[in-house]
Amino acid sequence: KIQSVDAYQIYDSRGMPTVEVEVTLENGVKGCGLVPSGASTGQFEALELRDGDKSKFRGKSVFQAVANVNGEISDAVVGLDAYDQRAVDQAMINLDGTPNKSRLGANAILGVSMAVANAAANAKGVPLYESLGGGEGNLLPLPEIQIIGGGAHANWRTDVQDFLVIATGAKDYAETLEITFNVYHAAGDIFRERNKYYGLADEGGYWPEFETNEEVFDTFVEAIKRAGYTPGKEASISLDIAASDLYDEETQTYKFRLEDRSFTREEFADLMIEWCEKYPIISVEDPAADTDWESWDKIMKSVGHKVQIIGDDLFTTNPTRIQEGIERGAANSVLIKLNQIGSVTETIDAIRMTQEAGWLPVVSARSGETEDAFICHLSVATNAGQLKVGSFARSERMVKWNECLRIERTLGEKAEFVGAELYQKIFK
Ligand code: PGA
Ligand code: ZN
Repeated sequence: KIQSVDAYQIYDSRGMPTVEVEVTLENGVKGCGLVPSGASTGQFEALELRDGDKSKFRGKSVFQAVANVNGEISDAVVGLDAYDQRAVDQAMINLDGTPNKSRLGANAILGVSMAVANAAANAKGVPLYESLGGGEGNLLPLPEIQIIGGGAHANWRTDVQDFLVIATGAKDYAETLEITFNVYHAAGDIFRERNKYYGLADEGGYWPEFETNEEVFDTFVEAIKRAGYTPGKEASISLDIAASDLYDEETQTYKFRLEDRSFTREEFADLMIEWCEKYPIISVEDPAADTDWESWDKIMKSVGHKVQIIGDDLFTTNPTRIQEGIERGAANSVLIKLNQIGSVTETIDAIRMTQEAGWLPVVSARSGETEDAFICHLSVATNAGQLKVGSFARSERMVKWNECLRIERTLGEKAEFVGAELYQKIFK
């Protein structure tokens, strides 16, 4: 049973305030929950409660969320059974009473939810993946790892937010990191040689300086070759367009700032399809805005049989929106972020719903991360099969890739890896 709940403000990987919660059980066992935070957030996400007092922490402090945990939420969950995650989460959802957790804050509720999950695992004396998955989880993820960061994460130096590598030729999890290592450092060499090494973006990818978006593709393909791989074979390209950030609802146009170009909805969908045909792309996230369902339909019809089409801002890990997407066949994959929906139970439900539809879930970090590796365990616990954490640098990213290596060792013989064969489920 939960004995006490203690929340406080800590700082994320961008130096921004966020919530940490420590839960203590009656037997003295503890568990922590550290809440991540996005920058290119979807409009349908659960609400991240910030104080908004511009004279303090630029309005970004989370003292109200902390107070909500230490007050109302604590009163509601103390005495509940930590092994019954669903009951604890439901009690908080009921207490909040809003559809998007806007009264108490998704950051308050999620912090408690993650802390309870960790405390339960600690009390059972088993790894979190085992406790969360009821012993069913043993699938190591195929990672997508950022090589170049742009968009909202790099002061708009490119319009596309993430240029990522997927190690489609890897035979096990460890090899995905070896392939990524080679591509990441080959890209770094190229940037250095061309005097374009300007440091790292928010998620650890190279901070780009290009004239056109296409130029990035050429550099990326060159890096894959320089690393000794055939593009599209051992190493493939994955994109997060984060198109909602490029979309103007009023004029219904997409804009590229880098090239000063503007597109109708049809033109932009055509460009996404063209890129998928032209480059060794295996996966594209948010190729259209979160209200532009017609473009999703069009892109899926053209390339959905050979490219993973992931909805992030489109679905915001929200079961109602995922259901709508499944019904109209708008995508074939769902990005899964704990803080978009705001509790562990609802996140696992979203993963299950995705899997039951024959789609693929991709468990994901946020651009504002912490030193916590909860999502690695979530990915293995649910056999999600894919993980997106940002790049191959900076400790808030590496802690996740390294945690999966540890899980692989702990699972030993039981560890499974399907890798790029996963895509056979959705490529028809
Ligand atoms: P965010 O970016 O955490 O800033 O939303 C990640 C993503 O868009 O996938
Ligand atoms: Zn995204």
